[in-house]
Amino acid sequence: MAQLWKGRFKKELAKETNDFNSSIKFDSRMFEEDITGSIAHALMLGAQGIIDKAESEKIASELAVILEDIKSGKLKIDMESEDIHTFVEGELTARLGDTGKRLHTARSRNDQVALDIRMVLKKETAEITESLKKLVEVLCEKALEHKATIMPGYTHLQRAQPITFGHHLMAYAAMLLRDIDRLNDAYKRMNVLPLGSGALAGTTYPIDREAVASQLGFDSVSQNSLDGVSDRDFCLELASALSIVMVHLSRFSEEIIMWCSWEFKFVELDDAFSTGSSIMPQKKNPDIAELVRGKSGRVFGDLTTLLTVMKGIPLAYNKDMQEDKEAIFDSVDTVKMCLNAFTPMVETMTVLKDNMRAAAAKGFINATDCADYLVGKGLPFRDAYKATGELVALCIDKGLTLETLSVEEYKNVCSLFDEGVYDAINLETCVMKRLSEGAPSPESVEKQVKFTLAKIKEE
Ligand code: ARG
Repeated sequence: MAQLWKGRFKKELAKETNDFNSSIKFDSRMFEEDITGSIAHALMLGAQGIIDKAESEKIASELAVILEDIKSGKLKIDMESEDIHTFVEGELTARLGDTGKRLHTARSRNDQVALDIRMVLKKETAEITESLKKLVEVLCEKALEHKATIMPGYTHLQRAQPITFGHHLMAYAAMLLRDIDRLNDAYKRMNVLPLGSGALAGTTYPIDREAVASQLGFDSVSQNSLDGVSDRDFCLELASALSIVMVHLSRFSEEIIMWCSWEFKFVELDDAFSTGSSIMPQKKNPDIAELVRGKSGRVFGDLTTLLTVMKGIPLAYNKDMQEDKEAIFDSVDTVKMCLNAFTPMVETMTVLKDNMRAAAAKGFINATDCADYLVGKGLPFRDAYKATGELVALCIDKGLTLETLSVEEYKNVCSLFDEGVYDAINLETCVMKRLSEGAPSPESVEKQVKFTLAKIKEE
């Protein structure tokens, strides 16, 4: 396939150079956006009288046919082409002759590729946002189901205070809500049209950038032609936002992996989302969660690639920037793949409530409530804390729990104790009473779910 820039060259490009230089293997996925962008450009050229109107319409309608032919498989993209832009223009010219050669008036591949990536990423960002919303909905549903399911809350992976499983799930929903917010924010800056920047210095033709922007669904046009073709901030922002998504999915995966272990046994994954071992017949492994945790590394790597590619290049376009696509497309594809597997895995997992409850009964996770009970009797918190510490030490000594100590034993440590302490340290009471804004009580979980569902509707 011929290059677009043959004029000043006397020799054919070496095969190795062509293979090295070519981006068709990864930019062919932008064919639809490339063609749609070209249609808008051609119609604008016609409307502005830059090329003949009838010819511009011919170009636009033939591009639409090319698009259909690629989609139907009638036209195969030539993998020897330099890039998708070269392929489409070459095909158009093969079909329309000189008319096809007029398409690239007042345009460069530099602003064309910047346009194509933005169009692709807008679509992908919207899709990922929808998938995240679906996961948030699943979490809300499960959280309501488990708004009163008691489990131990941890700090330092040590049992700390009682919470509800619903509350734990809604923590992830809160993280994912911020992810959705970040993606929406990145989308805004993606939604600026670079076409019309030309190679780097705009054009002398009387182009109408606003018309192209509105035709292609862009909010505004870029304000500086050098920036228009040099800017890949939208890739960096998306890769950053996706990296944070992966941090969240990875932490969640890590917890699911722990919860699946015999040591925890808080959840059981559906058979459809687990795998076995080729040698150990008893094994049921949480591979999906492990893969999601592992794939976070790829996405962080993609972000590092993009940052490194961009950090040292002078304005405006440099070929280094061709490296943007593989990295950002890999991030996008990886996150989509992870969400596709992760959401149904969470949706179908069985929560082993009794095991959570039993784990919550150990580890003195109601010790803070015991101290708070004394505070209610007028003791300063620091003294109440000390008295409760002594009781915990006594329990450890005697192999008892706060629930099984006698009132006498309580009174020996602090005379303010009476029978009421048993109700105060009852795990159900401990959780029910946690009514502060954002606390784990069932009532609060319901509130969080309501807030979250309303938020994703408005986003
Ligand atoms: N394949 C190129 C890329 O992805 C398209 C832009 C080429 N521009 C150029 N001046 N060689 O960056």
